[in-house]
Amino acid sequence: MTFRSQIPGAAERPPGFLYHSAGREGARRRAQCVLHCEGVNLQALAKRYGTPLYVYSAKMIRERYAAFDAAFRGDRHTICYSVKANSNLSILKLLAKAGSGFDVVSGGELERVLIADRKAAKKIVFSGVGKTREELSAAIKAGILLFNVESESELEALAECASRLPINASIALRVNPDVAAKTHPYISTGLHQHKFGVPIREASALYAKAASAPYLKVRGVSVHIGSQITDVTPFGEAMARVAELVRQLRNEGHRIDYVDAGGGLGISYDSENAGTAQLSKALAAYADAVITPLRGLDVQLLLEPGRSIVGPAGILVTSVVYRKSNNGKRFLVVDAAMNDLIRPSLYGAYHEIVPVGSMPDAIRETVDVVGPICETGDFFARDRSLPTVSEGDLVAILDAGAYATVLASNYNTRPRPAEVLVSGKSVKLIRRREKISDLLRSEMQS
Ligand code: LLP
Repeated sequence: MTFRSQIPGAAERPPGFLYHSAGREGARRRAQCVLHCEGVNLQALAKRYGTPLYVYSAKMIRERYAAFDAAFRGDRHTICYSVKANSNLSILKLLAKAGSGFDVVSGGELERVLIADRKAAKKIVFSGVGKTREELSAAIKAGILLFNVESESELEALAECASRLPINASIALRVNPDVAAKTHPYISTGLHQHKFGVPIREASALYAKAASAPYLKVRGVSVHIGSQITDVTPFGEAMARVAELVRQLRNEGHRIDYVDAGGGLGISYDSENAGTAQLSKALAAYADAVITPLRGLDVQLLLEPGRSIVGPAGILVTSVVYRKSNNGKRFLVVDAAMNDLIRPSLYGAYHEIVPVGSMPDAIRETVDVVGPICETGDFFARDRSLPTVSEGDLVAILDAGAYATVLASNYNTRPRPAEVLVSGKSVKLIRRREKISDLLRSEMQS
């Protein structure tokens, strides 16, 4: 039974997180159904590892990667999973094993990928507006596939680093196509007022400059217009501009083998629309929007999905510490907080919340789900209708596989949660819970 099984038409969610009957052994008060991750009971898991706890389904990550790959099967392509979405070494390893390349944006992410799979270096693309000379040199030495260069100054720095080593560096310019993506303003990147990329009209001159640098090899064009984009039209518009540029650059004598389409395909945070059929439909529309403008160009397509691969494959399990009400307004105070998952506070993001132990006849109530941090912005849901839960019960915050742990902090001196990766009935601790001593270790007392 899926956890949305009470909702008509919503039985489609892929089999990562499902409710299973708790059996007859329990006392009367026990939940009738318990949320599982694959074959693992989340109540048992929380007992073993404590809360808050991030739980990922390996099966879902593999399935979503495969679905993404399949959507582009007719065209030469490489998926470069965007490490920033979830950079846990075990998840990188799992994706490397599935055949993925990687999109990195820092020396730290580069190091993670090389630790997870040294052989993945030749499938790494490196984006970002502020790559330092140290980071550029490390990536040149690692022999990565492509630098997505974002400014003239960076181009000069890369030329300098490459000739000093001396090792060739393959480059694309990340162009800013001036296309509006309908998404949160903080994660829209493809307009001229954003800091990203070089204006598409200035690209030709910069390509000429790159071509004259002895250790830079012009190989492609890259673009990325934003994240959590659910209407695919802007992807098509951006690719049409890129295709035009590829033709122009080839006419000017450049070798353009790669088009990097970036990431950005959104997911549904409303699980009613989060099923496998919905994913395939969204991917088909996305692939069509990206590929159609490139027809006839014979390029190797690079794709940098992050959220769409791991977002729905992770949840954050948290315990209700207290119930309280202020003048009739009800709050569930849970043991996770904005430092563990900042998306609701930062972007006003919606995450579905479900009880881990479900009583089908539970009465619903309207509550705010909040954390213990001393800020009013520390909330996971406001005025949300949820089945009534008691102090000590567990709830799961869904779709927390992407941009969740990676954005976690130690605000209020809160150790970051443990993370576990489930595969069938097997459970692997992939990040131990931080201790307060971990937080204090790097500080000096004067
Ligand atoms: N490539 C580049 C150059 C990017 O900047 C990004 C995301 C991606 C790929 C992956 O995009 P995705 O497929 O995951 O949408 N913290 C925000 C999202 C920030 C996205 C930053 N760039 C959030 O929680 O919604």
